[in-house]
Amino acid sequence: MASKLISKLVANISPSATEATSFLVNQLKRQGIDVISFAQGEPDFDTPDNIKKAAIIAIKEGFTKYTDVPGIPELRKAVADKFKRENGIDYEPDQIIISNGGKQALYEVFRTICEDGDQVLIPTPCYVSYAEQIKLTGAEPVFFKTKEENNFRPTFEEVSENFTPNVKAFIINSPNNPTGSIIKKEQLKKIADFFIERGVFMITDEVYEHLIYDGRNHISVASLGKKEKEMSITVNSVSKTYAMTGWRVGYAAGPREIIKAMNNLQGHATGNINSIAQKATIEALIGTQEPVRNMIKEYGKRREYMVKRLNEIEGIRCQYPDGAFYTFPNVTALYDKEYDGNIIRNDMDVAKFFLKKAHVAVVPGVAFNYSGYVRFVFAKSMEEIKEGLDRIEKAIKELK
Ligand SMILES: Cc1ncc(COP(=O)(O)O)c(C=O)c1O
Repeated sequence: MASKLISKLVANISPSATEATSFLVNQLKRQGIDVISFAQGEPDFDTPDNIKKAAIIAIKEGFTKYTDVPGIPELRKAVADKFKRENGIDYEPDQIIISNGGKQALYEVFRTICEDGDQVLIPTPCYVSYAEQIKLTGAEPVFFKTKEENNFRPTFEEVSENFTPNVKAFIINSPNNPTGSIIKKEQLKKIADFFIERGVFMITDEVYEHLIYDGRNHISVASLGKKEKEMSITVNSVSKTYAMTGWRVGYAAGPREIIKAMNNLQGHATGNINSIAQKATIEALIGTQEPVRNMIKEYGKRREYMVKRLNEIEGIRCQYPDGAFYTFPNVTALYDKEYDGNIIRNDMDVAKFFLKKAHVAVVPGVAFNYSGYVRFVFAKSMEEIKEGLDRIEKAIKELK
């Protein structure tokens, strides 16, 4: 029976599947089992020293009090400059809010523009938190599936076929979690035109914008024109680019009216984000970008190795991701095989099999609303990647 204590909206959200996997991994580790985890979506690198130093200075100088709710002016200016320099978008500092990670920025956007009766259209596979955050506003997430043969890029046809008059917003996540796919400029323009014509807002999650390979380009929808800028909100974060997941710094930029309303919401919910992390983020954005270039180079080598190795393993089919640090192989060829009296029937069973027989953790595709696949993270040392894939290869060979 449902508890009367918990509100319907909160009772209706599911726990994060990635966190559930981490819980299982930690449980096995406590039993002394040496688990290799390709489940956690965060850089294995430490935060660069220049950024840490900026935080230490902030503490020493006593920069430890409440700040302006949307962030200190120097940081909002540094973010505005970043948008001009890197994305070709002219946002003024008062069009920017600094939030507790990209996650809070996303939640505040949904909370601010969505309500009962609204729908938010989401291409899948998609990041685990969109749907639950949307449900918390009373709105309904509506999914449509992209195709593996299109490299999981949403097409104009898929967008128009799945559109309904109740759609208030559309989510763009490029590079995508969990596939790494990047939407190409022409396609993005066509999709943006479709939504602008229908008065639908675009929420663009660009937290992986710097992690791209093979000379590809990241394009922000707001850079495509005046209308695109007016009808979108750009969400970003320093978590992935600067190996700063624990610092909790994200930001959103968009029309003043929305940013102001988000500011009111944030003022009552959490207030400003950590003052010290704000100072560190200024250094991340304006300081040397050398550590970022080095991390990307390293991810590039690991991507090369992981995708090649996965494709050599029978039963796994894998594409080269355009960006991010994930690869999302098809594992359906492992279905109906047997180990220890268990039959593998879906991607959840594949993840369980990897964990039980290879002591390797991955996240099943169902967590991203897309079954038949599992997500591997390659933000891991080359040694761990080699060892983890050796173990998976061996376990698969023993399947009946
Ligand atoms: C697509 C996507 N958006 C947003 C986030 C939120 O990141 P953070 O809150 O650390 O900025 C993540 C984290 O995994 C993500 O993968």
